[in-house]
Amino acid sequence: MEVIPCPDRDRAVALTARIIETRLRAKPDLVLGLATGRTMEEVYARLVASGVSFARCTTFNLDEYVGLPPDDPNSYASYMRHHLFDHVDIDPARTHLPDGMASDLTAAAADYEARITAAGGIDLQLLGIGEAGHIGFNEPLSALRSRTRDKILTPTTRRQNAGMFGGNEEAVPKRALTMGVGTILDTRELVLLASGAAKAGIVARAVEGPLTARVSASAIQLHTSCKVVLDAEAAAGLEDIDYYRFVCRNEEKWDNCRDLL
Ligand code: F6R
Repeated sequence: MEVIPCPDRDRAVALTARIIETRLRAKPDLVLGLATGRTMEEVYARLVASGVSFARCTTFNLDEYVGLPPDDPNSYASYMRHHLFDHVDIDPARTHLPDGMASDLTAAAADYEARITAAGGIDLQLLGIGEAGHIGFNEPLSALRSRTRDKILTPTTRRQNAGMFGGNEEAVPKRALTMGVGTILDTRELVLLASGAAKAGIVARAVEGPLTARVSASAIQLHTSCKVVLDAEAAAGLEDIDYYRFVCRNEEKWDNCRDLL
């Protein structure tokens, strides 16, 4: 794992967008795993502004609420159109989200896994982290080998996401269809972005704490190519922050990103 501490949120977002843009330019037919949530909004804005082509790119989103149709303004399908898909040259047929409206969620989950496999697997997966320690919607005690399935959302997550539902926690759906922790670990590269003081405690547990199903994000410790991009606030709880800064300063591969570090 590489922890990449940035001075502020803007630069953490810019660095994340730059990593994605670089991968897309190097491999235009990239299979890109996408996340939603507030943290990612500015990442998508920067990708749109970069002008990079998504024409040959295939995308798979981490999750979708159960019971929200794709045209519901709070669905993640709407979020993706609003923040990215409507503003780039991506082929809508190459964009995939789990089907939260399926009458058989188990079959929909299996179909999602099959679609990822048919695409050749995910090259780069973008991740946020929830205050409950989730990646995707893998709430505490999700099996570290879990695959796509439906999960009950914790009260912490429903509270965290209430802002997108007019501040009404009760309006946040109770379930979501999400890639599993195992599905996420099968991707070829992970980039997790976190910002803000509210994430400092859970980031420290995920990065430096024990590997545990209580904090699904701690599973990133098992991945052989994982970057954790943080602003100063989200990095504030890390004990070994000086070491992570030392590594970044000395890694030549970050030389063309010094403006952001
Ligand atoms: C969303 C997702 C979640 C979010 C996480 C952080 O697709 O998978 O894991 O990334 O809840 O959300 P924000 O950025 O709103 O704090």
